[in-house]
Amino acid sequence: MGETKAEARGVIDPPLYFQAHVFVCCNRRPDGHKRGSCAARGSESLRDYMKARAKELGLAGVRVNMAGCLDRCEFGPAMVIYPEGVWYKIETKSDIDEVLETHLRQKGRVARLLLTEHDVPPAKA
Ligand code: FES
Repeated sequence: MGETKAEARGVIDPPLYFQAHVFVCCNRRPDGHKRGSCAARGSESLRDYMKARAKELGLAGVRVNMAGCLDRCEFGPAMVIYPEGVWYKIETKSDIDEVLETHLRQKGRVARLLLTEHDVPPAKA
């Protein structure tokens, strides 16, 4: 593995505190808001389910947090996983199960759920 740009500048970060840090948007906007919101699409219960399942599965170093608006509202319920910065649209418990197994356990990607660089809010397109 090569030297990162930060390392080339003499920056040395401490080791990762969490191996994977999951942020699930739980922002709720009033009904009828033009952007909608992830909570209105069910993200709160999906986040609760994911947190519980990650614990049941014993996924070491995985932290599942609720987040405020991640600014990809139109594509929600939205989640992002760091340090890799991979985004998913998660709509069902089955989607969560797949992210837990494929991304967080096997270190793969769930291609069908990925948000990409093309999934940007209309005002930013
Ligand atoms: S409301 Fe979830 S990304 Fe904005």
